[in-house]
Amino acid sequence: MRKQIAAANWKMNLTYQQGEKLLDDILTAKIPLAPHQQVIFTVPYPYLIMANSAVANENNYAVAAQNCYHKKSGAFTGEVSTEMLQSIGIKYCVIGHSERREYFAESNQQLAEKIDLLLEKSIQPIFCCGEALSIREAGTQNNWVETQLKESLFHLQPGDMEKVIIAYEPIWAIGTGKTASAAQAQEMHEFIRSIIQQKYGTAIADNLSILYGGSVKGANAGEIFAGPDVDGGLVGGASLVAEEFIAIIKALK
Ligand code: PGA
Repeated sequence: MRKQIAAANWKMNLTYQQGEKLLDDILTAKIPLAPHQQVIFTVPYPYLIMANSAVANENNYAVAAQNCYHKKSGAFTGEVSTEMLQSIGIKYCVIGHSERREYFAESNQQLAEKIDLLLEKSIQPIFCCGEALSIREAGTQNNWVETQLKESLFHLQPGDMEKVIIAYEPIWAIGTGKTASAAQAQEMHEFIRSIIQQKYGTAIADNLSILYGGSVKGANAGEIFAGPDVDGGLVGGASLVAEEFIAIIKALK
């Protein structure tokens, strides 16, 4: 069975101390997880080492960075490389979040470079894709997402593609309280899997975890995750509240 994942995305929220407490509150809940279920905390850079040591003795819990730079190393003040992440034991990294694409003008091409640098350092990318409201209203969301996948991922060899996790996050549902319906999420996830299947074959497509993101909370996680092609979620706002995120973890298939 493919991995079912509850990934918290803290974004630029919480102090270090609040982050420590939130992790503690979630971990002390001792939620029973099956081997195919995974929880990932995507935390700000200064908290990565702390979060990684908090989950060090837990099965099925891991930590992700929220971003990385698309160059190897050098004179890029303020940026963080994949080698730095690897050197502190980070195993996952979110890339291409719509906020990065929108506010920091990240392109599909840059994301392709980040994917390569992450895989080179054995860090699994959580690659975000998804359309804006105007694209959904024009009915061209499938083409839009297909282009994002093709331009950032389709240069990968099959052995690398199988390490990628995809997060479908319709921009109109992020932080807006507006969730895609379970049917809309399932429909897009099935489409994404079919695109991967056409390029990489059934075995890789079947094993690929595709997360949904956009206003997931305790109350709607079960319904959204029930879609056969929905393998959990990437969760912003609700991941900052222990009880909410615990309920989301418990809703994993
Ligand atoms: P949200 O954010 O759950 O607050 O909508 C999701 C995300 O941006 O990953």
